[in-house]
Amino acid sequence: METGISSCRAKDTTVIAIDGPAGSGKSTVARLTAHRLGFFLLDTGALYRALALHLMRHGITDSAGPVDPEVLNSVNLRVEPAVGAMQVFLDGEDVTADIRSEKVGDAASRYSSRPEVRHTLVGLQRDLGTRWNLVAEGRDMGSVVFPEAKVKIFLTADLEVRARRRYLELRDKGERPAFDDVLADMRDRDVRDETRSVSPLVQAWDATRLDTTDLTPDQVVEQIIQYIKESCADASPVS
Ligand code: DC
Repeated sequence: METGISSCRAKDTTVIAIDGPAGSGKSTVARLTAHRLGFFLLDTGALYRALALHLMRHGITDSAGPVDPEVLNSVNLRVEPAVGAMQVFLDGEDVTADIRSEKVGDAASRYSSRPEVRHTLVGLQRDLGTRWNLVAEGRDMGSVVFPEAKVKIFLTADLEVRARRRYLELRDKGERPAFDDVLADMRDRDVRDETRSVSPLVQAWDATRLDTTDLTPDQVVEQIIQYIKESCADASPVS
């Protein structure tokens, strides 16, 4: 634990909550911030992806249809947090790489609007927050899962810039998507994430908003570390 930020502890652990839409830079920034602080990274999108994979593997492919509670409750998810990375295991199998596909991401976005799906994962996330110092990234970290977190950051960026980042990421992976398709997908995902009735993507009232449109990830991290030092008043420098 960084001595400089101990006043931001809730009970025994500290949670830094980072939320924002797809492409806002959350994942990279959360990973770098966790590394700077020596905290574990909790990538909650990965949990929604793994649960979606579980449902798909059980033949539940209609995200609008009924989800068999037995299948939902039978999910056996384990995460191994580590500084700057998080491994996800489904039924003992490491699915960290498998859940990165567009197909699983799209299913995660659809299933995550279901209250029973969210309910299944909230307990797991909170439990990790009682055991580890976390940089927790997602859509509802500051608003729902860790409302008591003293440091809450909400990242945004222009839609086109977010789509461009996603497009370049896919190209780096060897895919050849059309930019307009990536843009349309991102717009759809924003609408779904922002309009679902349970835990929609929303800035918590006490979160600090940071627009990353014209910033590099390192610049964003620098601002977050600065903000943490200022918010956690007994701050001796966080290296
Ligand atoms: O961040 P990501 O793309 O890996 O997340 C996949 C989907 O999971 C995303 O479209 C919305 C959903 N999600 C969510 O609803 N709540 C979270 N805390 C994290 C992700």
